[in-house]
Amino acid sequence: MSWRTAITIAGLDSGGGAGIHADIKTFAALGVHGTTALTCVTAQNTYEVRAVQCLPRDMVRAQIMAVWDDMGIDAGKTGMLGTREIIEETASVARKLGFPLVVDPVMVAKSGAPLISEDAMEALAKRLLPVAKVVTPNRYEAERLTGMKISSVDDAKRAAERIHREMGSEIVIVKGGHLDTQDAVDVVYINGTFHELRTPRLDPRATHGTGCSFSAAIAAGLAKGEDPLEAIKTAKELIYIAIKYGVPKGKGHWPVNPTAWVEIPAERWRTYEEMTKALEIIEENAELFGVLIPEVQSNLGYAVDPRYAQTRDDVAAIPGRIVKYMGRAKPSGPPTFGASDHVARKILAALKHDPRIRAAANFKLDEDLLRRAREAGYKVAVVDRRNEPKEVKEKEGGSMQWIVEEAVKQTGGVPDIIVDLGDWGKEPMISVLGRTPTEVLEKVLRLYRENRKAE
Ligand SMILES: Nc1ncnc2c1ncn2[C@@H]1O[C@H](COP(=O)(O)OP(=O)(O)OP(=O)(O)O)[C@@H](O)[C@H]1O
Ligand SMILES: [Mg+2]
Repeated sequence: MSWRTAITIAGLDSGGGAGIHADIKTFAALGVHGTTALTCVTAQNTYEVRAVQCLPRDMVRAQIMAVWDDMGIDAGKTGMLGTREIIEETASVARKLGFPLVVDPVMVAKSGAPLISEDAMEALAKRLLPVAKVVTPNRYEAERLTGMKISSVDDAKRAAERIHREMGSEIVIVKGGHLDTQDAVDVVYINGTFHELRTPRLDPRATHGTGCSFSAAIAAGLAKGEDPLEAIKTAKELIYIAIKYGVPKGKGHWPVNPTAWVEIPAERWRTYEEMTKALEIIEENAELFGVLIPEVQSNLGYAVDPRYAQTRDDVAAIPGRIVKYMGRAKPSGPPTFGASDHVARKILAALKHDPRIRAAANFKLDEDLLRRAREAGYKVAVVDRRNEPKEVKEKEGGSMQWIVEEAVKQTGGVPDIIVDLGDWGKEPMISVLGRTPTEVLEKVLRLYRENRKAE
């Protein structure tokens, strides 16, 4: 009983950014079973709609009924409906079945192409909107529906109230993606009250599918029986993340990434678990690593999947570092995101050159270890900080990036080990890099084992 079913009645975007792709990803991210009644197929990418073909109305009804008769429908949403016939059919089925319906009154694609015929506009306003539990026009759709000019939050409020009063949708959200406000403000009209939901305005590059994903998220919340305002607030949070971590693909507006909602917490958890495993390796070899702890102590860091690694907060490391206690290496706390500065910056710089390299640790410069590393065929780069340009030194965090870039230049890729010869008051140090924190530690252990064998 805890699984709920949501349906999207919408079009297919072959580029995977908007339409049913965005909706199903959103349903999955919010933990409802997603089903589909396809309305139209569009041959589309991130910058244009090349062809559209809509299905006959009976075929749309048949899909909805097939789902309904088998598993029931806890909530639905509409996206591109394409023709007057499909709009009328959808309105009539939704009225008959009575599940809560979120209507995204799609009129044009992000690229500007019309997605609904002229005669369909009237059917949308007169037939479908009265059946809608929630309607989510953007600025231009709200202008078309009301004939009003909308540029401020106050205008959006007037339009929302009017759409409710004249077209009968219970809850109206005038979305702020295209408003001239600094923040992205969505106006929600609900039971005679207005709510303003706001987030900072993000770079609009990855906004293909925002409206689809947003309305699908609301439908998912309604399917789960959430209070509508709660569902709408969650949708707003989800869409913020989905735009922020949009998929950098295509020449036009990049697809939004609704899956980020679950992928980011999952990636952080995996990263944390890998770090925990690595700390066990340190504890098992505490004496050996103890020898390698420098004056400034060591740290070990691991970045989340590079698709989500943007700042040092996306890198897990040891707060208070790995210290030397009675000659033994000892992590002074559990892995924590944002707990390192130098190691995190080195990893973020390395990721730019090779997205597989997500982990690093710093150790004391040990000549014997270095010789062994060279003999073992490790790629070793030696960087002299005295050559670091003054501008770089003065820039916050610039040094770590510079060191990695110098190293990459030397070895033609991210090396296994970067030797930082230090500077006035800066201890010489080595950084060992690898794909996982376990791999980083194993790279060191292997040399010690080989050292021992050689002795
Ligand atoms: N640049 C942005 N920064 C932050 N949030 C945004 C941005 N653009 C849109 N949003 C949010 O995304 C959601 C969708 O709003 P928008 O006005 O873009 O819908 P839309 O125009 O119907 O989208 P689509 O073009 O996909 O149909 C809203 O919650 C809006 O506030
Ligand atoms: Mg839209």
